[in-house]
Amino acid sequence: MKEECKVVFSEDQVVARIKEIAAEIDAEYRGETVYLLCVLKGSIYFTCELARHMKTPVKFGFMSVSSYGDRLTSSGAVTMNGDVDFNVAGKNVLIIEDIIDSGRTISYISKMIAKRDPATWKICTLLDKPSRRAVDVKADYVGFEIPDMFVVGYGLDYAQRYRNLPYVAELILTEDPE
Ligand code: IMP
Ligand code: MG
Repeated sequence: MKEECKVVFSEDQVVARIKEIAAEIDAEYRGETVYLLCVLKGSIYFTCELARHMKTPVKFGFMSVSSYGDRLTSSGAVTMNGDVDFNVAGKNVLIIEDIIDSGRTISYISKMIAKRDPATWKICTLLDKPSRRAVDVKADYVGFEIPDMFVVGYGLDYAQRYRNLPYVAELILTEDPE
C-alpha cells in the first residue's frame, strides 16, 4: 500500500482555531481552575496548544484509551489502558479528545467521569465526524467538523505513525501498481 498525506488544516489554521476555543473556554470558566483531561495518545498536541492559550488556571490530567488498533475504522470496543490520574470529585473536568468518530470512546469516558462526581464536566474535541456517529454524543467545544475521511497528524495516528505531523492531513491509501 502506498500512503499519501494531503493537508486538510495547516498548522496556522489549527493554531488559530485553538486560540479561538481557548478564548471561549476562558469566557465560560471565568477564572475557575479546570482540569484538562488529556486522552492519550491522540490529544497530546491539542491539549498542550490549548493550555498555552488559556488564561483560566489549568491543571493537567491524563488517561489512556484505545479503540482503533492498527486499522482505519474503529474496532467498536473501547479499551482502557490507564485510568484517570487524579481524583475527579469536586473538580471542573474538561475532557480533551483528538477526534469524535462513532462517539463510543467519548461516551465511555464521559460516563465514567460523570459517575465520579465532578463539579462540572465538558467535552472538547479538535475534530468531529458527525456523519459517522453511532452513539448520540455532542462535544461542548469543537475545533473543526470534517466529512467521513481518515485523518492523521497533530496527534492523530495511523498504526501509531504520523502523530508528529504539525498539521492535520487526510491519509490516502492506494494499492501499489504491479
Ligand atoms: P470513536 O470511539 O469511534 O468516536 O473513535 C474515537 C477514537 O478513534 C479517537 O479518539 C481516535 O483515536 C480514533 N479515530 C477516529 N477517527 C480517526 C481518524 O480519522 N484518524 C485517526 N484516528 C481516528
Ligand atoms: Mg483518541
